[in-house]
Amino acid sequence: MYEHDVIVVGAGGAGLRAAIAADEEGADVALVTKLHPVRSHTGAAEGGINASLRDGDSWDLHAYDTMKGSDYLGDAPAIDTFAKTAPEEVIQLEHWGMPFSREDDGRVSQRPFGGMSFPRTTYAGAETGHHLLHTMYEQAVKRGIEVYDEWYVTNLAVTDHDDPEDRECHGCVAYDIKSGKIEGFRATGGVVLATGGLGQAFDHTTNAVANTGDGCAMAYRAGVPMEDMEMIQFHPTTLPSTGVLISEGVRGEGGILYNDEEERFMFEYGYANNDGELASRDVVSRAELTEVNEGRGIEDEYVDLDMRHLGEERILDRLENILHLAEDFEGVDGLDEPMPVKPGQHYAMGGVECDENGETCIDGLYAAGETACVSLHGANRLGGNALPELLVFGARAGYHAAGRDMKTAEIQTGLSAKSEAGDVEPPVTPGAIDSGSEDVAADGAAVEPTGVIENAVERERERVETLLEEDGINHAEVRADVQETMTQNVNVFRKEEGLKTALRDLREAREAYEDVAVSDPSRTYNTDLIHTIETRNILDVAEAITLGALAREEFRGAHWRAEHQERKDDEWIKHTMLAWNDGTPELYYKPVILEGDEETYEPKERSY
Ligand code: FUM
Repeated sequence: MYEHDVIVVGAGGAGLRAAIAADEEGADVALVTKLHPVRSHTGAAEGGINASLRDGDSWDLHAYDTMKGSDYLGDAPAIDTFAKTAPEEVIQLEHWGMPFSREDDGRVSQRPFGGMSFPRTTYAGAETGHHLLHTMYEQAVKRGIEVYDEWYVTNLAVTDHDDPEDRECHGCVAYDIKSGKIEGFRATGGVVLATGGLGQAFDHTTNAVANTGDGCAMAYRAGVPMEDMEMIQFHPTTLPSTGVLISEGVRGEGGILYNDEEERFMFEYGYANNDGELASRDVVSRAELTEVNEGRGIEDEYVDLDMRHLGEERILDRLENILHLAEDFEGVDGLDEPMPVKPGQHYAMGGVECDENGETCIDGLYAAGETACVSLHGANRLGGNALPELLVFGARAGYHAAGRDMKTAEIQTGLSAKSEAGDVEPPVTPGAIDSGSEDVAADGAAVEPTGVIENAVERERERVETLLEEDGINHAEVRADVQETMTQNVNVFRKEEGLKTALRDLREAREAYEDVAVSDPSRTYNTDLIHTIETRNILDVAEAITLGALAREEFRGAHWRAEHQERKDDEWIKHTMLAWNDGTPELYYKPVILEGDEETYEPKERSY
């Protein structure tokens, strides 16, 4: 068994920032990660990092834009903390050597991004995430932070008290991808989940194949509620054949969207009369699909994004990476022709419920970055707010797990924050086929840290042996079915019947998963085994997304419902919560906090 004060699971931006913070606080911290840190999906982030840095801008304007962008489902304490702290995090990055794009006078450049009232998105060309990741990895190396890379954390080691709020997380279990060993990791201070997104629940996504919702699914099964899982962001500009992201930075620099009739449809059809292409992402994605559905799409599938008028010099200076992506993945030369784009799954606004300090309702368990739901983004995240989020809240989780005294959180977590029971009628029974009790310490007596970890290790060893030894179907069949139904039925436009179809399909997929097995018996680099374990996580998060979507009977932010065409503030300014009790998801709601430090945010009509 390995032992550290703080274990950070995942080494993308949030994980690295948490680890650096824990190290600054004097903790012995380790990163346990299924990918090498610089292979993390943060490296694919293109556009930028929002922070109010200039005269004329201020944290409260940034906070206001974020709350409006969230369609009034973000929590003010998270939003205010975020907007106030983002500038110092960006300045610190700059001091660590981040190669930001700059103005002629040397200042860090900032460009406009969707839904922002001020051009506050700092960037490093169109490969901001890549540079951020390398800058932070360099800091981790400099500090001697231990990295267990290619160790896949498959479960948490949590006590099995009946009430999740009495449970404690003592560590986790990980599979060494290189050798096939399964070992326990004890964390005496805390475990920070920073495993990134869950885009692999969909088949057209900007996310990497590694983004399988691992942290969410593990926390969910351990008893931590999932929050606002239905809130999935579909980015308006992804390449049709692969889902590869074409940065919002293109529109930020002045790129224009056209339909098949060469109309600038964002204005022509009144989707966003003020901000046009730079409306928030949910608005632009719906506009594009409406164009396609009304017969004005190109090849009935996509629209064009044109940046030719920006000129070669500016494109090469600020967007060079986009030229390579369009050429390599779509065979299009962005200097000479428009690029085909369509909406694709990009980001999960929801996730593991936690407070402003990253703490979940389970003692010793934290979450940060896309895995977490603080809730900062509510029903729609603004472009350029993900990277500062992982800096601000990654650092806070790291400090807290390492023992720093933090201001008491205003955001409540756990079942005690419940304000109202939920009411949803799924067409099939959701949740585990068997009781989920095997997912926390199985033996009621096990509360001692080492005993809890040893039990968890033993369960994982048995699970892996079974997968390797038995015959059965390949996980890929199950995964493909999940991705297909999610993309078909839980996309930008959602209908009750489609959501119910998805739940039925997911149930069938769960049943099929009971028969999965791994045909490759190897213990080294057995990617079939890794993907099989990931597919279980995909199933759990896909079902949580769909249940939340069926329950929320209104149209808010990224969540559009055919039968409910209005935002219903009287009834629905509340967070959707799902708690996995004995393998059955329990739905309930908790209130959104609109009272901020300086003002109470009043829900207004959201137009761009
Ligand atoms: O479009 C982009 O460059 C993506 C940025 C983001 O998701 O924040």
